[in-house]
Amino acid sequence: MKRYLILISGRGSNMESLLDAGLPGVCAAVIGNRPDAAGLALAESRGIATMVIDHRGFASREKFDSALADAIDHFAPDLILLAGFMRILGDAFVERFSGRLLNIHPSLLPSFRGIKTHAQALAAGVRLHGCSVHFVTPALDGGPIIAQAAVPVQAGDDEAALAARVLIEEHLLYPRVARWFLEGRLQLLEGRAHLSDQIAVEGALHVPQLAPQFAQRNSA
Ligand code: GAR
Repeated sequence: MKRYLILISGRGSNMESLLDAGLPGVCAAVIGNRPDAAGLALAESRGIATMVIDHRGFASREKFDSALADAIDHFAPDLILLAGFMRILGDAFVERFSGRLLNIHPSLLPSFRGIKTHAQALAAGVRLHGCSVHFVTPALDGGPIIAQAAVPVQAGDDEAALAARVLIEEHLLYPRVARWFLEGRLQLLEGRAHLSDQIAVEGALHVPQLAPQFAQRNSA
């Protein structure tokens, strides 16, 4: 049975969607970089091993990364899932886990890297927003994209409304991609996400629901 490990910083709703998905693997541990991350209590209540590695206790980013990497290796995971993990990881860390480190990011990459992605999308006036799952590489939010889900931006959306609509898709997309990896149907090859033929048929894009006025026009 393959083993996966989840890294979180806060609420843990993506972590929960992964734990609830009945993935073909064992969750070896959930590690948080903040003792107050709500997701840790949730994982504990499911009987999953949890650990806190508080970044504030380390003199440098490199020292934190190295402690985190050693803790991860202790659990010997095949797959590491960043799920709302809000620390930038250095090159050495990323290279150590290359090919088995995934992240979910709340935008249609390569647009809107970094933080406050929903505010960035609203400010840019895009009509389509969403989320992406990608392999992690040293370039922040810049690794090979595996799958995306798109949602329309609606008139009157504020940050919270848009974030909530994207989050629904995150909870569907991330477990799907994690499953592909654990089933051996997804790998990082020559700097690109390589999906099995079957996935290419199923599609690595979730197409948005059209707003009613557009749906009507399209069917007329
Ligand atoms: C999610 O929207 C996730 O995509 C985002 O943080 C939120 C965490 O929520 N991650 C990033 O912005 C990473 N750059 P959660 O703790 O409920 O899963």
